[in-house]
Amino acid sequence: MDVVCSGFVLLMILPIAPVAIAGAAKESAVNLLEAEALRKSGWWGDTTTATNVSAHCYWYGIICNDAGSVTDILLRNYGILDELTNFSFSSFPNLVSLDLIGNGLHGAIPHQIGALSNLTYLTLSNNFIEGFIPSSIANLTNLVTLNLSYNSFFGPIPPTLGQLSNLEFLDLSNNHFSGIIPSTLFNLTNLFWLDIHSNPKIGGFLPEEIGNLKSLTKLDLSNSRFSGSIPQTFGQLSNLDSLDLSNNHFNGTIPSALFNLTNLSRLYIHSNPSMGGFLPKEIGNLKNLVELDLSNSRFSGSIPPTLGQLSNLDSLNLSSNHFNGTIPSALFNLTNLSQLDIHLNLIYGSIPSEIGNLKILKFLVLGSNRLTGQIPPTLGNLNTLFSLDLSSNQISGSIPLQLSDIYSLRFLDLSSNQLTGSILTQFGDHILKSEVYFLYFNLSHNILSGTVPSSLLRLGNVDLSYNALEGELPCELVNQFGSENFAGNPDLRCPSTLCGISPCVMKNHRHHPPYYIIGLGVPFLVFSLIGGLVLYIFHRTKVKKVEVELMNNKHGDIFRIWNYDGHMAYEDIIKATNDFDVSYCIGTGGYGSVYRARLPSGKVVALKKLNRLEGENPNFDKSFRNEADMLSKIRHRNIVKLFGFCLHKRCMFLIYEYMDRGSLFCILRDETEAMELDWIKRVNLIKGIASALSYLHHDCDPPIIHRDVSSNNILLNSQLEATLSDFGTARILELDSSNQTVIAGTFGYMAPELAYTLVVTEKSDVYSFGVVVLETLFGKHPQEFLSSFSSQPNEPIMLKDLLDARLPPPTNPLVVRNVVVATALALDCINANPKCRPTMQQVVNRFEVGRRESTRPLHTIAVNQLVSPPVLSLPDQTYTDGQVV
Ligand SMILES: *[C@@H]1O[C@H](CO)[C@@H](O)[C@H](O)[C@H]1NC(C)=O
Ligand SMILES: *[C@@H]1O[C@H](CO)[C@@H](O)[C@H](O)[C@H]1NC(C)=O
Ligand SMILES: *[C@@H]1O[C@H](CO)[C@@H](O)[C@H](O)[C@H]1NC(C)=O
Ligand SMILES: *[C@@H]1O[C@H](CO)[C@@H](O)[C@H](O)[C@H]1NC(C)=O
Ligand SMILES: *[C@@H]1O[C@H](CO)[C@@H](O)[C@H](O)[C@H]1NC(C)=O
Ligand SMILES: *[C@@H]1O[C@H](CO)[C@@H](O)[C@H](O)[C@H]1NC(C)=O
Ligand SMILES: *[C@@H]1O[C@H](CO)[C@@H](O)[C@H](O)[C@H]1NC(C)=O
Ligand SMILES: *[C@@H]1O[C@H](CO)[C@@H](O)[C@H](O)[C@H]1NC(C)=O
Ligand SMILES: *[C@@H]1O[C@H](CO)[C@@H](O)[C@H](O)[C@H]1NC(C)=O
Repeated sequence: MDVVCSGFVLLMILPIAPVAIAGAAKESAVNLLEAEALRKSGWWGDTTTATNVSAHCYWYGIICNDAGSVTDILLRNYGILDELTNFSFSSFPNLVSLDLIGNGLHGAIPHQIGALSNLTYLTLSNNFIEGFIPSSIANLTNLVTLNLSYNSFFGPIPPTLGQLSNLEFLDLSNNHFSGIIPSTLFNLTNLFWLDIHSNPKIGGFLPEEIGNLKSLTKLDLSNSRFSGSIPQTFGQLSNLDSLDLSNNHFNGTIPSALFNLTNLSRLYIHSNPSMGGFLPKEIGNLKNLVELDLSNSRFSGSIPPTLGQLSNLDSLNLSSNHFNGTIPSALFNLTNLSQLDIHLNLIYGSIPSEIGNLKILKFLVLGSNRLTGQIPPTLGNLNTLFSLDLSSNQISGSIPLQLSDIYSLRFLDLSSNQLTGSILTQFGDHILKSEVYFLYFNLSHNILSGTVPSSLLRLGNVDLSYNALEGELPCELVNQFGSENFAGNPDLRCPSTLCGISPCVMKNHRHHPPYYIIGLGVPFLVFSLIGGLVLYIFHRTKVKKVEVELMNNKHGDIFRIWNYDGHMAYEDIIKATNDFDVSYCIGTGGYGSVYRARLPSGKVVALKKLNRLEGENPNFDKSFRNEADMLSKIRHRNIVKLFGFCLHKRCMFLIYEYMDRGSLFCILRDETEAMELDWIKRVNLIKGIASALSYLHHDCDPPIIHRDVSSNNILLNSQLEATLSDFGTARILELDSSNQTVIAGTFGYMAPELAYTLVVTEKSDVYSFGVVVLETLFGKHPQEFLSSFSSQPNEPIMLKDLLDARLPPPTNPLVVRNVVVATALALDCINANPKCRPTMQQVVNRFEVGRRESTRPLHTIAVNQLVSPPVLSLPDQTYTDGQVV
């Protein structure tokens, strides 16, 4: 403020004459004030070279009016890592739009935001902003759009928001607001968009007044704690296009008035375990419905045939209810359907052959019902089918050969039926000849006979256990899939003793239950752990002898520390963070916030305070302890150290080593820091992370899958040495009551198969590692390269053109060799087929071997030449999960 004022004063002294000039000067004074506030924020880097009074109007994201005063600040995804309070809001009297979506802003919104009386557009979503919404927000009476979603706001939704009568768009989703929706909000009759979802502490009954919001086209109240019945006044929201009330505690039935909302295209009421009753035939009125999800509730009676009138329906999920009766034939009129999920109901009868009408069906999930009869051969017409689950029914007869004609089919689960025949023999030939590739192929618990063809080796995951198969079981199948997947076939001669199965092979093939991922009911839960922002950790503390000591302190908390210097105690931690005061918070992620704490000994640690989950499982605490214990035993120079944890009724935190240079992600985005990370350091970083992952996968028992390898989770110390962080957090937090498998991972790094199978293996880490390697070498996420490379694999791309241009190209032959080897390995790692990816052990070994290889000059190397030739089924040539010759 001092600096700003001195500029202002200076200017006021200069004009000495006429009033007209004084007027202009006043205008310039405002402009100077603005320029100074922008400069002081530091968000535009070094701005000392600014040449004239209005130079800031030309900065990125700034728009000024004719008088040179700032009206718009538009810095979406601009990489700002700063405290919001450092920004001088009150310096911009003419500001109309402030868009700071997707930065690293933290701290609270300062009260002075109320000074921006002209503000109409305020969007701060996807940051780490905390605290209450300041009451001064009520002064922003011109506000039309307010988006605070994906932050860490807490406290009640202020009733004064109801004074913003021009508000049309209000998004408060994904925060920690608590209490109820204040009744004043129902006065905002201009609202067309209201999104409060994922505020787990907001709830209560929905009042009738919700019917006042007649302009609403989108209403999302999902993932909260609303209860009681859904009010009939919903029928007044006639413009509603999308309504999401899922994952709450609503009870009773769907109010009949809802069926008047004929503009609805998306209706989600799933996962309200006390809602149910018959589904009335009026559901057929909602002719514009594209998605309908009523899963995980208590709907009963038969499936109304009027659903067949919803001709726009793309996705229908009625799974996990008590529906009975047969599949109504009217459903087969829904030719736009791409997802049909009715699993886990009481549906009986056979699957009608008209199922073949649903030509663009991708997901057909009918498992766990009481279906009988045969599998209709017309299923073979569904040539875009991706996932077929008919498991746990009473289906008999043989498997139609037509199924093996569906090239798009990746997930086939016919387990636990009464299927007969020796279809596998034929199927096997087909598989070999065709392009069919099943990632998941489960025919277990049937009565199938005949022999087992070795061509099944091409598939991803095979389970043929508990059938009546016979003959010799090919050795390579046992090696590949483990003998347990062929158990329970008394006449199958298993040569396991001859196969020389390595324990590694057996260990890597866990048995996976069928996953009902694909329906609407369980959307992918992709948790971006935002680890990089989250852990700025430093100081490579020398770990002396590691001891474990348990302290039950006077609060009865369980606190366990791996006593690395002998002087860390619960009280110290509380003191060091002033009881987790926000001023010590250095970041927030999906699972909680991270604090920097200086202990009395001078040691600085990072504390990751985890949000406690609702509906806790009594077993959770115990499992958490076991997991944390296990993770604490991990010792590797490239893995960030977990020093301990605390478990308390109100809070739960993990104590980590602190790394001062922050994440690889951030370093690569910063010009200066990226230059500092030269080729030698980058190669060492890649080797270090490879070694860390190899350690987790191959030296730990049971193996540990990181699940979220990304540049955010690679942290660097002051010497720019890399450590892998945040591993296992997802795993710890997944021990909660639900049995649902959760994918932890960051979009852009997740192996493609995870989109379909949820079968998380070491190979998913390998994929993510490959992406990180390319990112490290290219200096940015390789998305662009990957898409052009996959669409035009034969178009030569020179490696030198892809390498980070901010650094001079490597010249040292040893470094060049390493860069080339790393690129080649990365390309193998991102192979779409998990089986073709190397193991991390092989990656590490390859670097060793690579030392002896000679390399051509860098400018002659095209990346296309670095890709391994495609290999089909011979295990001794491919990278399989087992040993490689
Ligand atoms: C002020 O500086 C900017 C660039 O910094 C330039 O584009 C603009 O023309 C200058 N304006 C005046 C009035 O000199
Ligand atoms: C932002 O404010 C914090 C304290 O509120 C201060 O430590 C930090 O240096 C400030 N950052 C800048 C860029 O001024
Ligand atoms: C706000 O906008 C109005 C009209 O666009 C303008 O007259 C006024 O000067 C602006 N600034 C403030 C602080 O109201
Ligand atoms: C449905 O939406 C259209 C515009 O898409 C609108 O014209 C119509 O009035 C709406 N129907 C109802 C019942 O509000
Ligand atoms: C719904 O729940 C409320 C309390 O949460 C209860 O008073 C009411 O009776 C329930 N209604 C039905 C139909 O179960
Ligand atoms: C639904 O619409 C019908 C006919 O348009 C009307 O009679 C009925 O009152 C409406 N129901 C509600 C609850 O608005
Ligand atoms: C279907 O379920 C309803 C309600 O649960 C029950 O009344 C009816 O008898 C059942 N019908 C059949 C055929 O099982
Ligand atoms: C399916 O649609 C056709 C024509 O659109 C109609 O004649 C037929 O009755 C429908 N079938 C059912 C079962 O609704
Ligand atoms: C989870 O699965 C186990 C057995 O697989 C079962 O006993 C338990 O009830 C399930 N828990 C939930 C919450 O569904």
